[in-house]
Amino acid sequence: MQIIETERLTLRPFREGDADDLLACLRAPTATCFLSLKLADLTAAKTEVKKRALDEGSVAICLKQTGQVIGDLFGGGAAEEEEGTASVGWNLNPQFGGRGYAFEAARALLDHLFRAKGFRRIYACVEDHNMPSQRLCEKLGMRREGLFLEFVSFTKDDAGNPIYENTLQYAILRREWMSGVPAVWQPPGMTGVAGAEPSGHDV
Ligand SMILES: CC(C)(COP(=O)(O)OP(=O)(O)OC[C@H]1O[C@@H](n2cnc3c(N)ncnc32)[C@H](O)[C@@H]1OP(=O)(O)O)[C@@H](O)C(=O)NCCC(=O)NCCS
Repeated sequence: MQIIETERLTLRPFREGDADDLLACLRAPTATCFLSLKLADLTAAKTEVKKRALDEGSVAICLKQTGQVIGDLFGGGAAEEEEGTASVGWNLNPQFGGRGYAFEAARALLDHLFRAKGFRRIYACVEDHNMPSQRLCEKLGMRREGLFLEFVSFTKDDAGNPIYENTLQYAILRREWMSGVPAVWQPPGMTGVAGAEPSGHDV
């Protein structure tokens, strides 16, 4: 991917030298969906960095001031399943949460995927207990489109049985992003949907 600059951040591909910072981001993932990405040590982090460096859809979030990698985004890689559709996701080093970095980075990524890469639809899957990620989707102007009950399992209980999670899907279309006015339609029974506040798409 091309390098993207925002006010406080640089978004760029992963590269050699990022392993320490990636380890800090993924030593103890807080999101259940990223538990499988947990990194045990620096050796594992170096291997993961090499893999990500070759993945067009993997983006390092760096602080402009220090160059430190404080998190990552994904979206728009080769493995997208539907033509014109990209799924996106995010993970911050917890030390850097609550400062608006995730929003700043994700907004720039969505803008890049819609404008430069021409994607038609972008969606994100979020577990129903992950409030920070839901809040981020809503601030981005993404619409809450559905709730899939017992959709996926990332963990097991003490007896080894899968624990199934309820998964929300958020999405936004290119035309909505470009107009800056996300649609407010929502499935019956759904509340707390994007569109209630302007998302400010100018990056
Ligand atoms: C989801 C995740 C990326 C959200 O990160 P975050 O730091 O909470 O998100 P934001 O960047 O939007 O920042 C949130 C808060 O920063 C605060 N903030 C501080 N300074 C700010 C600034 N300069 N600009 C904007 N917001 C700022 C705001 O109060 C904002 O809270 P609000 O939205 O309620 O107003 C983060 O919790 C995370 O990495 N979680 C683990 C991984 C995960 O769950 N991934 C998603 C799996 S589906």
